Amino acid sequence: MGFDQYHEPPDELPAETRTFARLAASLTEEAEAIGWYAQRLAVEPDADARAIMEDAQGEEFKHFCMDLEFLLRRTPTWQEIARGILFAEGDIVANGDAAEEGVIHGGGGSGNGSSPPSGRGSGSLGIGSLKETPR
Ligand SMILES: [Fe+2]
Repeated sequence: MGFDQYHEPPDELPAETRTFARLAASLTEEAEAIGWYAQRLAVEPDADARAIMEDAQGEEFKHFCMDLEFLLRRTPTWQEIARGILFAEGDIVANGDAAEEGVIHGGGGSGNGSSPPSGRGSGSLGIGSLKETPR
């Protein structure tokens, strides 16, 4: 039984932070499972076994995405940075740098992107400039 997702005494953490930590740990586990299935599929020659593992990996994709969506909804700054990176055309690193610059350093950011969930979730995070960034 692990409580590894906590780096501070759990009884001192607000309930919403404990929930956030649980989903962050789940996100990590789903990503690990996706990677494990990728390795298994790379070496498995049996078509029936592959079909089962491909189906299972699809479940992990879904779980990962649901975890990520939950975490992003609870962390507006993270969500805004993700908007500049996910499903965007162009260079991933350049998009990441632009998203960070626009959200964290571009003014109007919440300034607490590393401390989710804030519970505030209000107003613009100043990403107007990201919308104009070529992708
Ligand atoms: Fe899963």
